[in-house]
Amino acid sequence: MADCVVTFQPDNKSVKVELGERILNAAVAADVFINSVCGGLGKCGKCKVQVKGDVSKRDSELLTEEEKENDFVLACESAVMGDLEVYIPEASRAAKHQILVKSKEIDLKRLTPITRKLRLTLPVPSLEDNISDFERIKRGLAEQNIENPRISASLLRNCAKALRENLWDVGATIAEVNGTNEIVNIDSKDSIKKHFGLAIDIGTTTVVVSLIDLNTGETISTKSNYNKQIVCGEDVLARINYAEEEEGGLPRLNKLIVETINFLIENLTLDDELCRRGIEYGTCKDDIIGIVAAGNTTMSHLFLSLDPQHIRLEPYIPTVSLIPTLRARDLNLEVNPEAVVYCVPCRSSYVGGDITADILASGLTKKEELSLLIDVGTNGEAVMGNKEWLVSCSCSAGPAFEGVEVQHGMRASMGAIEKIALTVLPKENGMEISVFYKTIGDIKPKGICGSGLIDLLAEMFIHGIIDKGGNINDLLSPRIRDGIEGKEFVVAWAHETSLGRDMIAHKKEDGEIVMEESEGKDIVITEADIKNIIRTKAAVYASCSVLLKSMNHTFEDLDKIYIAGGFGNYIDLKKAILLGLFPDVPLKKYDFIGNGSLGGAKLALLSKDMREEAERIYKMMTYIELSVNNMFYNEFTSALFLPHTDTNLFPTVAEQLDKNQG
Ligand code: FES
Repeated sequence: MADCVVTFQPDNKSVKVELGERILNAAVAADVFINSVCGGLGKCGKCKVQVKGDVSKRDSELLTEEEKENDFVLACESAVMGDLEVYIPEASRAAKHQILVKSKEIDLKRLTPITRKLRLTLPVPSLEDNISDFERIKRGLAEQNIENPRISASLLRNCAKALRENLWDVGATIAEVNGTNEIVNIDSKDSIKKHFGLAIDIGTTTVVVSLIDLNTGETISTKSNYNKQIVCGEDVLARINYAEEEEGGLPRLNKLIVETINFLIENLTLDDELCRRGIEYGTCKDDIIGIVAAGNTTMSHLFLSLDPQHIRLEPYIPTVSLIPTLRARDLNLEVNPEAVVYCVPCRSSYVGGDITADILASGLTKKEELSLLIDVGTNGEAVMGNKEWLVSCSCSAGPAFEGVEVQHGMRASMGAIEKIALTVLPKENGMEISVFYKTIGDIKPKGICGSGLIDLLAEMFIHGIIDKGGNINDLLSPRIRDGIEGKEFVVAWAHETSLGRDMIAHKKEDGEIVMEESEGKDIVITEADIKNIIRTKAAVYASCSVLLKSMNHTFEDLDKIYIAGGFGNYIDLKKAILLGLFPDVPLKKYDFIGNGSLGGAKLALLSKDMREEAERIYKMMTYIELSVNNMFYNEFTSALFLPHTDTNLFPTVAEQLDKNQG
C-alpha cells in the first residue's frame, strides 16, 4: 500500500504511514502524544486536531460547527488518505508529564544480582582431554561451585565458536532461572566488566527504565516516557476493554508497551554517560543481560501478552501471579536475546507487582513495627503489616487526583497548578479572596494537577469557602458564581491562563487561511469537581480503615505510614490530612518512598535476598476484596465529609477549625 507522509505541528515531526491509518496511530508512530482519554473510541473529544490534506473523517457531535468549518477532526476517527499536515492544538496535546524517577534508597550489604559473570579459563582440548565443549564448560563451572547448569539451544549452537575465538578463556554469565542455574551468555573474558541490567517500572500512564551496572549496583542513567498504550485508553479497565473488544487489541497493546520500553532502552544506550565509560553504542544493548520489571497486574499481563479479561470479571482471577523467569527474546526486548527477565510477583488482580515492589522499597517487611503503605494513583492500594504478616486491599479511587473527572484538572505536567494558597479578607460588600499559585514550569496555568487540587480544597475548606459536604458557601465574591454545571469557584482568571489559548487557523470567506490567537479561559473548580475529589479521598481513607479494623487496630497503633507513587510525592501532607485523605497522626510517622515500583525493581535486580523477599511478600500477603465488603461501604460513606463524619478521628484538624472560627 502507498505510504503517506504525516507531519505533526508544532513539533514538526513526520512519519510515513500506510493509507487508511488513523491519525491517532500515526501520532504514536511519530512519538507525538495526543490526548485520548476514551482510548480512541470517539467518545471524549479530547483528540481534536486541525488537518491540511486528504483525510477520511466521520461526522462527530463532539465537534462544533465552527471547528468543522476550520477543518478540525477527531484524530481517533479520521484516517490518513494522502500526505497530511496535522496541527495539534494545545488542549489536545499530552503535555510533558512530571515523572517521578527517584525512590528511597536501601543500602544493600551484599550485591547478588540476577546474573553473575564468571571468568572461565578452560584447558585446551587434546586427544587425552577430549570431552565435549559443553562438558568442558560444565567442568569449569563446577570448579566454581556451579553444578548442572542448563543452556538454551541457541546458546549451545554458538558455544564452539565462542570458545575457540576466545582461545578457551571466556566470560560466562550465569543466572538462577526458576530454581536452576542457566548459562545465559558466553563471551570474551573482557565482557565480565560489561555487566548491565534494567529496572523497569511499567506504569499505566508512564514507564521508567533505569540502566544499572550489575557489578557495582550503581544506577548509570534513568529515562522515562509515556506508556504508548495511552492511545488505547487512560486506565487499566479501558486497556482491558481494548484488549477484548478491538480486533488485534491484545497484540497491539503488547507491541505498544514493548515499543515504549525498547525506545527507552535505545535512549539509555545512547546516553552520554555510557559513552564516557567507553562503551560503544551498539555493543551496550547486548551487554544488558538481566531485567526486573514491576507493574500492576494488568500491565504485567499486557507486557507478557496475556489476556487480561479475567482480571475485570468476578472472581477477578489473573492468569499468573508468580511469573516464571523469561528471556528477552520471548518478549521482543532489544537487549541481549538471552537476558533473563524477572517480573515482580503480583498478589491479586488489583494488588500488582508495583505494590510488591513498593513494599520491598519501603523495607516494611524487615521490621517489627506496624506499618501502613498507601499508593494513590488511578487505583488506591493500601497494605498493612510488619515482618510477619501483611494484609492488602485496593479501591478504585477514581482518577480525580490524576486530573480526570475534574473540569480543569490535568496530570502533573507543564502548566499545571501544583501549589495553591488563599487569603480571604472581609470587605464592605463581601469578601476579597486572593489566590496564589505555582505552576509546574512556572508558566501560565492551564489546569490543576492532583497536589494543586488537594491544596485548593484544603484552603477553601479552612477559609470557609466550602462546607464539610463540599458545597460552595454563598459568599459575596466575584470568584464565586453560578456556572453551567452549578456553583463554581474561579481559581485563575482568563487573562492569567493559557487554558484554551492557542494559534488556530481560520478560513476567511475568500478562502484565505489566517492564524489567530484564541482567547484564554477562566480556570474554575465546580461543586461537581469537589464532590468527585471527596469521593476519591473517601475511598482511599476507607480502604485504610478497613485494613486496620479487620486486624483490630486503630490508626494510633501505626508506627509508620509509607506514601508511594508519583502523586504522593508532591502533596502537602498537612493539607492531605486536613481533607481527610490521610489519617491524622504525627507527621513524623510519615515517610515518602517516591517511585517504589522502580526502587523495588532495582532491589530485586541487585539482590537475591530481595527476590526471595518479593516472593515471601507474595505468599504472606492476604487480600481483602472491597467490592463485596460491607465494612468498606460504611467507612466510605462516613468519609464523604471534610475531613470525616467523626471529627474525633482528626483532632488536629478540629483544633485548627476551632481556632479559625474563634
Ligand atoms: Fe476520545 Fe478521540 S474521542 S480519543
